[in-house]
Amino acid sequence: MKDCEFSDNKVLHSWHNNAEEWVKVIDREAIPSRKLITDQAIVETILAHSPTSVLDIGCGEGWLSRRLSAEGIEVWGIDGVADLICEARRRGQERQHFHTLSYEELDPQAFENKFDLMACNFSLIGERSTNVVFKNACSLLNPQGYLLVQTLHPLISCEAENYQDGWRPGSWEGIEGNFQETAPWYFRTVSSWVHLFIEHGLELTTLREPINPTSGKPASLILAGQFRL
Ligand SMILES: C[S@@+](CC[C@H](N)C(=O)[O-])C[C@H]1O[C@@H](n2cnc3c(N)ncnc32)[C@H](O)[C@@H]1O
Repeated sequence: MKDCEFSDNKVLHSWHNNAEEWVKVIDREAIPSRKLITDQAIVETILAHSPTSVLDIGCGEGWLSRRLSAEGIEVWGIDGVADLICEARRRGQERQHFHTLSYEELDPQAFENKFDLMACNFSLIGERSTNVVFKNACSLLNPQGYLLVQTLHPLISCEAENYQDGWRPGSWEGIEGNFQETAPWYFRTVSSWVHLFIEHGLELTTLREPINPTSGKPASLILAGQFRL
């Protein structure tokens, strides 16, 4: 497939159509690497930064927001898919605030407060939409606040393709479910991720590669950058 067949709009369209199945996947803990490694890795990394307020970007059905609010953290979750936000609200408890909002609509004026930390757990999928999140980060964060990203590890997810940024067709392979369509995603190299932090005024403070003990390979890449005045 060529680049022109993919777009940020197609990403959201696909997540919209697969929202119900995605909730079932999370409930069944049907992605082994999440259960085994990456859920714990993101929670540990966030807690290590001791935030009192978190903006969960692309929160899905809200599992991470719930986990963080159980630690006493005030959490705001946004997602572009209304059905997922409905589900997050239905399951939500105190200290949780959910809004249907695409990254393209992300506006610091939309919130009454700023955040100690913005968390993006496997949710920066598009090209332009990811740039918008980075562009707004310093306006959304308190001084010394962090933008934290967990993503597929580029060296593993690159597979047989050339190691360069670009749109890739999505796949639900290995995840059981009645998915309607695949969600395309924009591949970025490690240096491209690092560059996003630098060019948007965030000082890279963390780079983690949690290892999958079964394969001995990295299960993900976790990066954090700090907004330093
Ligand atoms: C792989 S899911 C991850 C959900 C959640 N962070 C988790 O850990 O389970 C990706 C999420 O990003 C959201 N998303 C992707 N692109 C988006 C955009 N441009 N605006 C808003 N939400 C977006 C999708 O709707 C989906 O809920």
